[in-house]
Amino acid sequence: MKIFIDSADIKEIKTVAELGVCDGVTTNPTLIAKSGQDFKTVLSEIVNIIPGPISAEVISLDSKGMIKEAEELVKLANSIVIKLPLTEEGLKACKYLNGKGIKTNVTLCFSVGQALLAAKSGATYVSPFIGRLDDIGEDGVNLIKEIKALYSANKVETKILAASIRSPRHVTDSFISGADVVTLPFKILLQLYTHPLTDKGLKQFIEDWKNSGQRSILAEKI
Ligand code: G3P
Repeated sequence: MKIFIDSADIKEIKTVAELGVCDGVTTNPTLIAKSGQDFKTVLSEIVNIIPGPISAEVISLDSKGMIKEAEELVKLANSIVIKLPLTEEGLKACKYLNGKGIKTNVTLCFSVGQALLAAKSGATYVSPFIGRLDDIGEDGVNLIKEIKALYSANKVETKILAASIRSPRHVTDSFISGADVVTLPFKILLQLYTHPLTDKGLKQFIEDWKNSGQRSILAEKI
């Protein structure tokens, strides 16, 4: 049950690293553009903050270009995982990179058939985009269940990385449905641990403590 952060924002990634619950990072061209920083610079910073897998996406549309980009990106750190689109060219590049021992994350997966081909191409991870499926009236979490059933029945080693997460419920439902990893935006991570009853309960505990006249255990040291 691994949690990745879906972000290229260094401040967010540092905050999450301190929290101690983040096993890796996923980025995409949109997130890199949002960071306002140069691609290589952001990645070099990220790999120094989080030791786990860091997905970096190629922007070429042909397999040769994807492979060339991948070969440059993996020079940045051993933790770099090459994110490839789930297209014919992306699958070709995936097969090649897998043969070279380079880890891959096949992204933009919207069907179980696509996930099947990602696995056949030797993808390390496949990324079903569950929020974007929900956005068009389909059931994203159900796709996770279908991929899990297919992979389990056939002893597939490709890991299911649930992406395009819109709510804390998406996170827990993805894990319940068999996702190996869920990559979530910073906002959703905050929502996962925040609960109004926790805040209310804590406020009450502190008030009751103060009213009782008790002293902190640390006060005795003074
Ligand atoms: O990193 C890929 C994915 O998580 C994007 O999510 O919110 O743009 O659909 P979203």
